[in-house]
Amino acid sequence: MNAVITGASSGIGEECAYILAQKGYDVYLIARRKSELLRVAKHIRSLNTVHVFVIPADITKKKSYALLEQQLPKKIDVFINNAGKGFLGSFTDSTLSSQEKIVSLNITAFLKLSYLVAQRMRKQSSGFILHVSSIASFFPGPFMASYYASKAFGSSFSDSLREELRGTGVSVTCLCPGPTSTGFAQAAHAEGSALFTRSPLMSPYIVAYAGIRGMFSRRRRVIPGLHNKLSVFFSRFLPHGLLFRIVRRLNQ
Ligand SMILES: NC(=O)c1ccc[n+]([C@@H]2O[C@H](COP(=O)([O-])OP(=O)(O)OC[C@H]3O[C@@H](n4cnc5c(N)ncnc54)[C@H](OP(=O)(O)O)[C@@H]3O)[C@@H](O)[C@H]2O)c1
Repeated sequence: MNAVITGASSGIGEECAYILAQKGYDVYLIARRKSELLRVAKHIRSLNTVHVFVIPADITKKKSYALLEQQLPKKIDVFINNAGKGFLGSFTDSTLSSQEKIVSLNITAFLKLSYLVAQRMRKQSSGFILHVSSIASFFPGPFMASYYASKAFGSSFSDSLREELRGTGVSVTCLCPGPTSTGFAQAAHAEGSALFTRSPLMSPYIVAYAGIRGMFSRRRRVIPGLHNKLSVFFSRFLPHGLLFRIVRRLNQ
């Protein structure tokens, strides 16, 4: 059994790799930092007898798609589409390239790898896909505008693909974590934001575990943590203006 995990060099993706290896899956680990992937691979090999394949690649690069088409196994049983990043800051004060990076990773690469894997799974009439989105997909995100919008794309796309693949043997689940203690905040320059200093942070292991459990139970969506579930639920009843101001404060 083969599991492919993007963003496996840290955080939620790393924990997904440990959990799936423990379940007996051979794991294909994808991220840019080879040294971190080798660290994760070493840890897995020290605890399990599964095969571990390290694929260092920047999945936003065109050539990476061709590389992955060749290096990924023909039969993929589990796909964790997890690699993603955020950017905190004013849209107009930021560089265009910093905004484009969010779109090329969280939308374009996310979509292309879903395409590659979903086609293979469709042919084999089986497979589990876990799209890692965010509770950010439920709100607009002033000062993290492109990130929130990219995650809205992820959740919407995941639901649509799930429905398209209904009855084919391929199951699609969307994981929507809230603030989680990983490398994400630092990479997004968001460590000082109220979102990360005042919100309860979840552990990446608990988030990954909830996502994988939900995926194997063929659930449409998983929101780990009661506080995150409540935030999403009650946000529906807030007037838009108030909701926008609350998110703005959390992000600033
Ligand atoms: N942490 C949170 O608060 C939070 C909340 C909601 C949703 N999420 C989502 O959870 C997912 C995982 O993030 P995380 O929290 O675990 O953060 P993380 O620790 O920063 O992990 C991000 C992963 O993505 C990889 N990555 C980044 N750019 C890449 C690229 N161009 N090509 C290939 N791999 C790339 C990183 O590896 P390299 O740097 O080695 O490439 C890393 O393994 C993301 O989609 C994020 O949006 C996170």
